[in-house]
Amino acid sequence: MKKKTIKVGLLGFGTVGSGTYRMLTTNANTISYTTGVSIEVSKILVRDLSKKREISAPAALFTDQPDDILKNPDIDIVVEVLGGVHPAFDYMEEAIKAGKHVVTANKAVIAKDGPYLTNLALEHKVALRYEASVAGGVPILNALSTSLQANEFTEITGIVNGTTNYILTQMAENDMDYETALKQAQSMGFAEADPTGDVEGFDAVNKLSILISTAFGLRVAPEDIPREGITNITKEDIICAKQFGFTIKLLAQARRYRNTLECHVQPAMVPLDHPLATVKNEFNAVFAKGNALDNVMLYGKGAGAMPTGSAVVGDLLEIARAYAVGTADKTIPTAVNDNVNLKFDGEGQNMYYINLLAEDMTGVLGKIATTFGDYGIAVKSFVQNTASKQSGRYVPLIYILGETTRERLNDALEEISKFTFVKEIKSVISVAALD
Ligand SMILES: NC(=O)c1ccc[n+]([C@@H]2O[C@H](COP(=O)([O-])OP(=O)(O)OC[C@H]3O[C@@H](n4cnc5c(N)ncnc54)[C@H](OP(=O)(O)O)[C@@H]3O)[C@@H](O)[C@H]2O)c1
Repeated sequence: MKKKTIKVGLLGFGTVGSGTYRMLTTNANTISYTTGVSIEVSKILVRDLSKKREISAPAALFTDQPDDILKNPDIDIVVEVLGGVHPAFDYMEEAIKAGKHVVTANKAVIAKDGPYLTNLALEHKVALRYEASVAGGVPILNALSTSLQANEFTEITGIVNGTTNYILTQMAENDMDYETALKQAQSMGFAEADPTGDVEGFDAVNKLSILISTAFGLRVAPEDIPREGITNITKEDIICAKQFGFTIKLLAQARRYRNTLECHVQPAMVPLDHPLATVKNEFNAVFAKGNALDNVMLYGKGAGAMPTGSAVVGDLLEIARAYAVGTADKTIPTAVNDNVNLKFDGEGQNMYYINLLAEDMTGVLGKIATTFGDYGIAVKSFVQNTASKQSGRYVPLIYILGETTRERLNDALEEISKFTFVKEIKSVISVAALD
């Protein structure tokens, strides 16, 4: 006979930990009748016991000793919401080895050590769940690994970082430059004081690595995913994008071609009529294409105490419900073996938008077009922006190029930049390949 009350140890009581606690206490009745068990938070680990906290919990629950949770035989489920890799990884490993189920929101640990922890959980017959690690409150991992699992996916494209999406939206809609939009994001609490992890795409590659292993059953380490952030995107790029019918988004994308998988995190031009173009400010969305369902997009809040708490508590309840019938060890949500039919093949080919400044004189356009042609790169569209002719002599030339590898494009651009009439190659931005 399984217990009627499941005891939870919370590692962390910051944004997500306090949101999780609030949901568990506010919705205690609903939880009890939907799962058939009660969930009780027994201990909460924090770093600073004297800190004043916005959400209160009984003082007796708090501890600064991890062993009060990890070595406590009464605790069934450990919720890790500390952040960072260490000691979060070590605590999760110890909890699993002690036979405790683990729920985490930690994309850094799951992207790096998810396969190891998943196998460890299988070995110890406990659950490991991490819905909140990708796109916060948007239940994408659960959808991919349950309702949509019958599909073979050919594409997963996500806007999975709210900070960069907020900045790009403000630049597009409120005529801001990057620095002003970043400052605003920081003042609104959407960006951290050190925004590097978000604006340089590190956060998004962690999430894409987890999405790839869930959707395609293939392990691609975050550091192997080609990555580019948004710090070079200018107001001019955003205006030009609009003229061509695009908006610029930081996309985390994986595409499957037969037995190969290509992926990247990079700013990309998204057609204004694509559903991903409608995802604004701090919102996240993941667009997937499966061979049975065709296109599907999940959209919602990717961060914040309650949206992320909602995903953490969802995982907890999944375990609790399984616990009530004695199958909690079978709630592993993702593939544990690499898909042997699929091989990671780097970044692949993309279409590109190029903005370069060149002298306004005869012969320039022909020479540039010939150079692209020499590298097998097609010019799909071209605009000579004479309206913004600069310092009387130079004019912006804007190209949309056909599919090519980044390497081939760089070689072509290097040759073009050597022409004396070319002053500067101002922007190189991919054009998203989307259905
Ligand atoms: N914030 C979001 O919206 C969001 C969304 C999705 C996923 N996540 C993920 O959720 C996790 C938590 O994020 P968060 O924003 O809630 O972090 P946070 O607000 O900084 O809270 C971290 C909590 O962990 C405690 N803590 C940190 N290191 C500790 C240590 N070594 N020993 C004991 N306690 C420690 C802190 O204690 P004190 O309170 O005493 O400082 C604090 O309560 C991260 O993995 C993050 O990536 C967050």
